[in-house]
Amino acid sequence: MRIVVTGARGRLGAALVTYLSGLGHDILAVDAVPAAGAEPGVQPLRADLREAGEVYDVVDGAEAVIHLAALAAQRIYPSGHTFFNNVGMTWNILEASARLKVPRVVIASSLQVNHTVTPRTPISYEYFPVDEEHPVSPQDDYGLSKYVGEICADTFSIHWGLTVASLRFPLIAAAEHYDLMPLPDMDVPLGALFAYVHQDDAVRGCYLAATAPLPPRSHTVFMMAARDSSLGAPTRAYLDRYFPGVPIRPQLAEFGSTIDSSRAERLLGWVPQVTVKR
Ligand SMILES: NC(=O)c1ccc[n+]([C@@H]2O[C@H](COP(=O)([O-])OP(=O)(O)OC[C@H]3O[C@@H](n4cnc5c(N)ncnc54)[C@H](O)[C@@H]3O)[C@@H](O)[C@H]2O)c1
Repeated sequence: MRIVVTGARGRLGAALVTYLSGLGHDILAVDAVPAAGAEPGVQPLRADLREAGEVYDVVDGAEAVIHLAALAAQRIYPSGHTFFNNVGMTWNILEASARLKVPRVVIASSLQVNHTVTPRTPISYEYFPVDEEHPVSPQDDYGLSKYVGEICADTFSIHWGLTVASLRFPLIAAAEHYDLMPLPDMDVPLGALFAYVHQDDAVRGCYLAATAPLPPRSHTVFMMAARDSSLGAPTRAYLDRYFPGVPIRPQLAEFGSTIDSSRAERLLGWVPQVTVKR
């Protein structure tokens, strides 16, 4: 299968390219940063995805586009720069994919549509664990850019016929994050709801979102978190401390995730494999 991966030189993108290469797919590995070297079946391509013309070249002939390229956090750059970079790229990917009839587009969204690491106003929730139906309220450049990307995906699926999956990842834990878990206290800065997904599970999630059957002309949002939290303490202790009074649904296990990813399990067959060793 010919798969385009954008953000291929990023943390998740590089791991995904290696995984797809191992499965024998034909991959166009796109990033603004030059390639370090090529793996079997991988064609690296340097492109600035803010440029629509370059994006048409990138997606032409793809059977799936997995769009991971982003300025991947708030306030790395002045806010408008991050917002316009991310939204512009996502628009270009969706428009070019729709016009060139790419059958499937996967977009990396973020849990930060629900929760920011540095909130401007207090965060409230209606229930836990948070699922895709929970109202969102992005507060900053990065979270808003991801949410606008999802709204663009709605438009391109409903009105342009594209089939899109948006993946709301929490912290994607590579070894340097995972090795610190379980986190010993609740005040650490990595805290965004203490949700995480191991990088290997995120990689498989991208692949399944690109290949599992989904209704045509649809946009489906998926939470993709590990089954457990990254905290050493029981999840209820954390929720009671920071979000007293918010209803907790009965399925929450003792160290269960604050995020409900059951839609991805149901529709994509995505079952996260990695949990924290407690
Ligand atoms: N890492 C996380 O914890 C996390 C959590 C939630 C969501 N996400 C999302 O998952 C995706 C992958 O995350 P990551 O950690 O691998 O990010 P990363 O920062 O490691 O990689 C992003 C890549 O995008 C490329 N890029 C940025 N602007 C570009 C442009 N204009 N043209 C071409 N390439 C461009 C960068 O060069 C970089 O290699 C991102 O969309 C991110 O927002 C990540």
